Amino acid sequence: MGFELGCVSFEYGLCLGPMAGYSDRAMRVICHREGAEYAVSEMVSAKAICYRDKKTAPLARIGEDEGPTAVQIFGSDPAFMAEAARMIEDGFAGGVKPIAIDINMGCPVHKIVSNGEGSALLKQPLLVEKIVSAVCAAVSLPVSVKIRAGWDADHLNAPEVARACEAGGASLLTVHGRTRVQMYAGEADYGIIEEVARAVSVPVVGNGDVRTAEQCRQLYNLGCRGVMIARGAVGDPFVFSRLRAALSGEEYREPTLKEKLTVAAEQVRLAAADKGESVAVREARKQLAAYLHGRRGAASLRLAINGAQTLEEIDALLLRAEALDGQAL
Ligand SMILES: Cc1cc2nc3c(=O)[nH]c(=O)nc-3n(C[C@H](O)[C@H](O)[C@H](O)COP(=O)(O)O)c2cc1C
Repeated sequence: MGFELGCVSFEYGLCLGPMAGYSDRAMRVICHREGAEYAVSEMVSAKAICYRDKKTAPLARIGEDEGPTAVQIFGSDPAFMAEAARMIEDGFAGGVKPIAIDINMGCPVHKIVSNGEGSALLKQPLLVEKIVSAVCAAVSLPVSVKIRAGWDADHLNAPEVARACEAGGASLLTVHGRTRVQMYAGEADYGIIEEVARAVSVPVVGNGDVRTAEQCRQLYNLGCRGVMIARGAVGDPFVFSRLRAALSGEEYREPTLKEKLTVAAEQVRLAAADKGESVAVREARKQLAAYLHGRRGAASLRLAINGAQTLEEIDALLLRAEALDGQAL
């Protein structure tokens, strides 16, 4: 287990997955602090970067307070993909240089797939190789690719796509063990991840439904050098320290609710520093709902959080959540 990217080594290969609308700088900072070794940004459009779209730059910006982070680009035209990667390496987005350029070949969303982007690329291994080699030629940063098991159950061609990525020069592959047609339904198939790990010699990161150290060990035993956690880290960035402790045999103390909500509040403040208070407070709804999931009064707190406009209101609601949780049954 573990892998290297450029000159950085990751002991357990514990990665925070890219999630559009979630894995922003604030979430990445918090997850890194909690033990994520590597993170991938939300996906950004290669064309939007090439056209210097002002709204796109912040999505591709890596903060100084972050740990090793890759910027993920999506698109289907090798020339645009290469140019976008070069612009990111040259500092188009500001901030610090990413550790790698990650290419999205897994997004299942209709709007993306209907343009031949994201997981639609799984149907075109020749184009996959062209894109990866164009991006690799354009940058000196390592290039990684995130793929799915295949388009559907009849086309589980991830090993072929992975070989195309490797032939194009990719340094790292992440495999989400679901097909495009599955979207996020059903269970991730770790068998296909194993097939990919056998098919290529670059490190493979396993992804899909990972929550426990047993699943991490299972993926390592199948040949993965790392594991990627996406949804499992929303509202629970502590998953990384929990897994790290379990994998290293260290003792682990689960943070108290108060400690967790302090981290949640900090995440909203970090987001506010980047995006402004009103955007951050609005976007915090889904993250805070996840932090409060299963807690006493979560439903009414969620409603109240949905109506909050300011950081002060969020702080007051998080204090209320703590007080409610402390009440005897
Ligand atoms: C809301 C959401 C947004 C996502 N956005 C991206 C993305 O921008 N790029 C990407 O490669 N994968 C994206 N994914 C997929 C995740 O990175 C991951 O592959 C998938 O959720 C399976 O892992 P998990 O079970 O740990 O969540 C997204 C997933 C979700 C739920």
